[in-house]
Amino acid sequence: MTRILVTGATGQIGMSLVPELRRKHGNSNVIAIGHRKMPDEAFINAGPFEIADATNKEAMAEIINKYGIDTVYHLVSLLSATGEKNPDLAWNVNMGGLKIMLDLAREHGIKRIFWPSSIAAFGPTTPRDNTPQDTVLEPNTMYGVTKVAGELMCNYYHKKYGVDVRSLRYPGIISNNALPGGGTTDYAVEIFYEALKHQKYKCYLRDDSTLPMMYMSDAIKATVDLMESDPASIKIRTSYNLAAVSFSPKEVAAEIKKHIHAFECTYEPDFRQAIADSWPRSIDDSRARKDWGWKHTYDLKKMTQDMLEKLSARLGLKY
Ligand code: SER
Repeated sequence: MTRILVTGATGQIGMSLVPELRRKHGNSNVIAIGHRKMPDEAFINAGPFEIADATNKEAMAEIINKYGIDTVYHLVSLLSATGEKNPDLAWNVNMGGLKIMLDLAREHGIKRIFWPSSIAAFGPTTPRDNTPQDTVLEPNTMYGVTKVAGELMCNYYHKKYGVDVRSLRYPGIISNNALPGGGTTDYAVEIFYEALKHQKYKCYLRDDSTLPMMYMSDAIKATVDLMESDPASIKIRTSYNLAAVSFSPKEVAAEIKKHIHAFECTYEPDFRQAIADSWPRSIDDSRARKDWGWKHTYDLKKMTQDMLEKLSARLGLKY
């Protein structure tokens, strides 16, 4: 029996990952930690839920002891746009929190840890198309800096202390459950809500800003598959490149328009454009496919269809 801790459980990924882990391992074996954002009653009542600050080592140690935790998904993080507004906080939460969790893993014999990296680990000097696994990592956002430093920290703890920490460089993630918050790729979620509610959307990126993206169910599958893989198959202990689709605002808008004919998208780039311009357009994730059998399911067409179906049912909006 495994006892799992999920930090950042009320964030975009946590809100989908926690139900999947509860389904696989039993509700009482998955301990969700939230801090600022409160989830709905159903989420709280479905399994153990604690309110705690992931940058408080004593509080984390107490929860690990209380529940006999052996596996951690350390998701808590500030994203790219919020990180640029408050770089100090981004460093403290993203790096401080990771260091604490890696130390706790060592001290408490945690068997396995997952930590998310991102396409934000890349920067303007990285090749932007089919970005290789091993390449230049010179990001120009604080979020990206914490991702590169975090990857190196994970690798260090694995090599020096034998901590079984595993990581993925997530692309932008599109979900029909929880909203993302403070990211540069958030437009790709907002556009669906606005298309259904108002048949129009003002995008804060240029129409041709192609970025790597992924539907949430693929992101959850990748995360669970990576964590269930035999340790010997995990050859990369910094973080694996991970990809599914790449598209621009113009392309996703055109796909939505096939279902909602009246939909119109306009473009008014803001400070997030410079962040998007520093990131890759597409990712080479062949190492993940080779080492532990990664395979995505959703392309743009299939994802758009599913998003509109699920969101319209949840929001009670016909299209
Ligand atoms: N979705 C994230 C962001 O936009 C990238 O990891 O910040």
